[in-house]
Amino acid sequence: MNKIVFATNNANKLREAAEILAPLGIEVISQREAGADCEPEENGVTFAENAMIKAKAVFDIVKIPVFADDSGLCVDALDGRPGVYSARYAPKGQECAKLLDEMKDIPDDKRNASFQCVIAYVDENSSFTVNGACLGKIGYEEKGENGFGYDPVFVCGEKTMAEMTAEEKNAVSHRGAALTALYKMLAKG
Ligand code: IMP
Repeated sequence: MNKIVFATNNANKLREAAEILAPLGIEVISQREAGADCEPEENGVTFAENAMIKAKAVFDIVKIPVFADDSGLCVDALDGRPGVYSARYAPKGQECAKLLDEMKDIPDDKRNASFQCVIAYVDENSSFTVNGACLGKIGYEEKGENGFGYDPVFVCGEKTMAEMTAEEKNAVSHRGAALTALYKMLAKG
């Protein structure tokens, strides 16, 4: 394999994937670069289903190895919500405020949460999924200017994800962990 398609057009995700997979000597290209202009409906009920829907849809067009990711925030006190619905939980930019409001009466010891990421891989002979998780807690206020989505309220160690640099976040993130798991699978051959 000398090329693999990441079923995304997100430049940050592409850079991170290219860095982690670099030792394999495989070029990571975006969905757009591969000529797959599709946006399949993510109607699965798990991260794995949604990641597989995306990877298969792009593989059907490009016919070379593809991987796709799906991710979200799972809050223990909310029985795992927003989960696969993380992107649709609130209008963009209002997700943290809504979550803080839902969590306003939840005590410190019940504020555990995790970012989850599943990567699905598909080629002509095989398909599989790998997972990555980042454990943390939901804070009491938004802190930090970096990142996106729920980063300002997700506390991991001493900082929120939005207070971390991109390098610090990639070192602990759910997506970094899933990409490392993908690297290990591909390295096995
Ligand atoms: P996607 O899988 O990248 O489309 O992410 C789905 C949704 O999960 C995003 O819209 C965010 O709301 C949330 N999410 C996933 N990863 C992160 C992260 O690293 N930081 C903050 N929010 C995230």
